[in-house]
Amino acid sequence: MSRRLEGRTIIVTGAGSGIGACFAAGFAAEGASVGVLDRDLEPAQQVASDIAEAGGSCIAVPADVTDQLAVRDAFSTVRDSFGRLDAVFNNAGITFNSPFLETSAEDFRRLHEVNVLGVVIGMQEAARIFMQDGRSGKIVNTCSVASRRANANFAAYAASKFAVHALVQSGARSLAEHRITVNGFAPGIVDTALWDAQASTRAARSALFDKYGETIPIGRTAVPADLLPTGIYLAGNDSDYMTGQVVMIDGGIEMV
Ligand SMILES: NC(=O)c1ccc[n+]([C@@H]2O[C@H](COP(=O)([O-])OP(=O)(O)OC[C@H]3O[C@@H](n4cnc5c(N)ncnc54)[C@H](O)[C@@H]3O)[C@@H](O)[C@H]2O)c1
Repeated sequence: MSRRLEGRTIIVTGAGSGIGACFAAGFAAEGASVGVLDRDLEPAQQVASDIAEAGGSCIAVPADVTDQLAVRDAFSTVRDSFGRLDAVFNNAGITFNSPFLETSAEDFRRLHEVNVLGVVIGMQEAARIFMQDGRSGKIVNTCSVASRRANANFAAYAASKFAVHALVQSGARSLAEHRITVNGFAPGIVDTALWDAQASTRAARSALFDKYGETIPIGRTAVPADLLPTGIYLAGNDSDYMTGQVVMIDGGIEMV
């Protein structure tokens, strides 16, 4: 295996599960030291111990991405443990079904606090460390196909992911002078725990994914590993002259 991220330190938020867990393991396999950040310590520790068992370098750091001081502490712990910080993936996110007319203010606030404020905090705290250290840095936000098209049943989620797309652009413009790039990637339908609430049984989940798959030009839904090569590209030197972009990795659902 090539070691495309050798010597780098990368933090992934929401890395206790799904896309974040896959990215954390994949980055470590490419030689990066990884900060596995999650609100839930136990899954983060499990991901970190799997990475360590495979010979990777990593540390689990618990933090809720909506808590600025906790995120600051967690990012500093990772930087201090490995001596540097090169990239932060603001990936933690939640969703729930929220038909437009039935979305309560409370649900809307809860979702936006994690998906939008959590990303703002991650971007600010990453930039703070890059600037303190006088280093260039990379910020990568997890957007969504819902950043491009809002589905009737996911009103609050789509609004939050449009906002994350906006943060990629305003962050890129604000931080370029500090040699910090900001990009994003937009998954389509990926088989992770995020979908657990949408199907109560294994069979129902499988039927749901089959149904979605039929509507996707590439002919199937995704697994986190489908996204990893783009994540490695966005974390490494090959994407240095790129900022303010959101890469669609959705099997062709949205063509822009
Ligand atoms: N799965 C999909 O189909 C899909 C599609 C497009 C975008 N996304 C986005 O990908 C990202 C990762 O989702 P996933 O599918 O891997 O889901 P997942 O549920 O498997 O993982 C999300 C992780 O984020 C953590 N998390 C949630 N709230 C947090 C908080 N406040 N602080 C810290 N950690 C928190 C959870 O504990 C969990 O480990 C999310 O931003 C999601 O919106 C997912």
